[in-house]
Amino acid sequence: MITTVQQHILQQQQDMLKATGREATGTFSWLLSGITLAAKMVEAKIRSAGLIDVLGAFGAENVQGEQQQKLDVYANQALLHCLGLRDSVAALVSEEDEEPVTFNRDPETGKYIIVFDPLDGSSNIDVNVNVGTIFSVLRRLPPEHGTLEESILQHGFRQVAAGYVLYGPSTVLVYTTGNGVYGFTLDPAIGAFVLSNERMQMPEQGSYYSVNEANAASWPEGYRAYLEMLRTGGLGREYSSRYIGSLVADFHRTLLKGGVFLYPPTSKQPKGKLRLLYEANPLAFIAEQAGGVATTGVGRILDIKPEGIHQRTPFCVGSKREMEALRAEPVW
Ligand code: AHG
Ligand code: MN
Ligand code: MN
Ligand code: MN
Repeated sequence: MITTVQQHILQQQQDMLKATGREATGTFSWLLSGITLAAKMVEAKIRSAGLIDVLGAFGAENVQGEQQQKLDVYANQALLHCLGLRDSVAALVSEEDEEPVTFNRDPETGKYIIVFDPLDGSSNIDVNVNVGTIFSVLRRLPPEHGTLEESILQHGFRQVAAGYVLYGPSTVLVYTTGNGVYGFTLDPAIGAFVLSNERMQMPEQGSYYSVNEANAASWPEGYRAYLEMLRTGGLGREYSSRYIGSLVADFHRTLLKGGVFLYPPTSKQPKGKLRLLYEANPLAFIAEQAGGVATTGVGRILDIKPEGIHQRTPFCVGSKREMEALRAEPVW
């Protein structure tokens, strides 16, 4: 019999209730249904993108200084709408919005903060290459412990859930609530995400490295030395290069096949290009839950104390073997 993501999350909560005695509330599954509904809305648009007016630039610049694509805007509106209706949501933080969207809900009801990259890999939309959605869930701090703003800027290790949707040959949802990583495939016949991967584990070592080598001249020296070490058999095997330019797609391959993904500091982006709250943190949570490692090249991603909702970070994520070697190399 099939297991849908809703059934799975309720089962996880019952297991948690049994294991911890902690009252598991159904609000989280209701919350997740907001994400899956928005994902299905985005998926429907992507499937027929060439036939409807969703390709190309929207004609505005976002807070990142990027030209927004029409699908960036649509995906953002879909998530804001579907999640805003859930009364367990206290705030929504999006790559596409300069400030958090807050809902004046009392802390007893508005318990969760959802941080998301509504459409990741926008530069690939018009050439029909995989794009994705990334999300991270934080619990609001009790008022005596912190404000809503402080609740949004919690360390990555405080995430209660994280996941992504990858719109590709099939549409997959991968998520963790801290109790392993689970994959679901959208079954178009019934319009539901159905369990397809239990307790996903990243291989101890892979045979791919994934990095935009056009930036190599401006990386800190250690990264060039590290990649040369991989290329010349330093880890005892041959490597191939794979770089899709959609973080979710490059990450999903690394989760399934192992290896390493790197976005080092560059002269254009000295603090790294990828965003901590809605790209690095959620994927780092998933990577660690699957037995992988995620760092800035020096320290653990999940240990960073965020200072701003759009702050950037160098991002290195992958199998234990490749990441141990990266840590050993002085990458600065
Ligand atoms: P987004 O489309 O959400 O702005 O993210 C784009 C990111 C990420 O998807 C990818 O890994 C990276 O940009 C690619 O950057 P380069 O083109 O500089 O390699
Ligand atoms: Mn963007
Ligand atoms: Mn992105
Ligand atoms: Mn994006």
